[in-house]
Amino acid sequence: MAKLIVIHSFKGGTGRSNLTICLAALLARSGARVGVIDSDVMSSCIQILVGEDILRVERVLQSLAGPLPIRQIAHNLTSYLGPDTQGKLFVIPKERIFADPHATDIDAVYNRFQRAIESLALDIVLIDTPSGLNPEVLLSAAISDTFIILMRPDKQDYQGTGMMVELARRLHVPRIVMIVNEVPPDFDLGEVKTQVERAYQCEVGAVLPHSEQLMSMGSAAVFSMRHPEHPITHALQQIVASMHTAG
Ligand SMILES: Nc1ncnc2c1ncn2[C@@H]1O[C@H](COP(=O)(O)OP(=O)(O)O)[C@@H](O)[C@H]1O
Ligand SMILES: [Mg+2]
Repeated sequence: MAKLIVIHSFKGGTGRSNLTICLAALLARSGARVGVIDSDVMSSCIQILVGEDILRVERVLQSLAGPLPIRQIAHNLTSYLGPDTQGKLFVIPKERIFADPHATDIDAVYNRFQRAIESLALDIVLIDTPSGLNPEVLLSAAISDTFIILMRPDKQDYQGTGMMVELARRLHVPRIVMIVNEVPPDFDLGEVKTQVERAYQCEVGAVLPHSEQLMSMGSAAVFSMRHPEHPITHALQQIVASMHTAG
């Protein structure tokens, strides 16, 4: 059965969308059939990959989407990942999963999610969730196999992040992984990892430095594709490998 990876952060602007599309691209390139559910109404992941024009078409399609099968609604973006890509990458409009953003019917969400997986024969699904604590995040976390919590080394992130870790534990999420992003260059990455592990008693999957290259790219491309040898890409590749070996 497909695995569900939920990517969340308590605060906004921590790098969720960039991380989601990078992980999705790396997974697809390594042979997995990957679905991305973009929580952002403006479909930021799609924007990153293919730009505004298709975004507009996407929004029109979504508004007309009701009875269309998921295979016709999902965007197959595999061709953007290069000719030697072994897997597939689809972006699925979130409305097809979370029909009503205030719905709390976990079975209905789970069933819609399963139908999307089956019709696209997916191995893995990544959900890029909105920040903060809301019904969509709770529903996603409750059915997730892995809950990735992204944070920056910033006091504003600490308390909310702690609450999200605790919540994921109470929801019995099988695997909770923290990722620290945008660590300033004068910090020791290994030390940050140890401190965060100790503070939250949680697996830390990666500690990613602030990168001028990533920032100056301005979300106009998939960083891991543009910079395959960058330390950030290597760190994300390790997370992808751990997803493969986790079964
Ligand atoms: N490690 C990093 N170094 C520098 N800039 C980053 C890094 N990670 C993310 N960013 C930048 O932060 C901004 C927010 O990223 P985004 O992925 O849209 O966050 P979110 O989805 O959490 O709101 C983007 O401009 C992105 O380029
Ligand atoms: Mg985002």
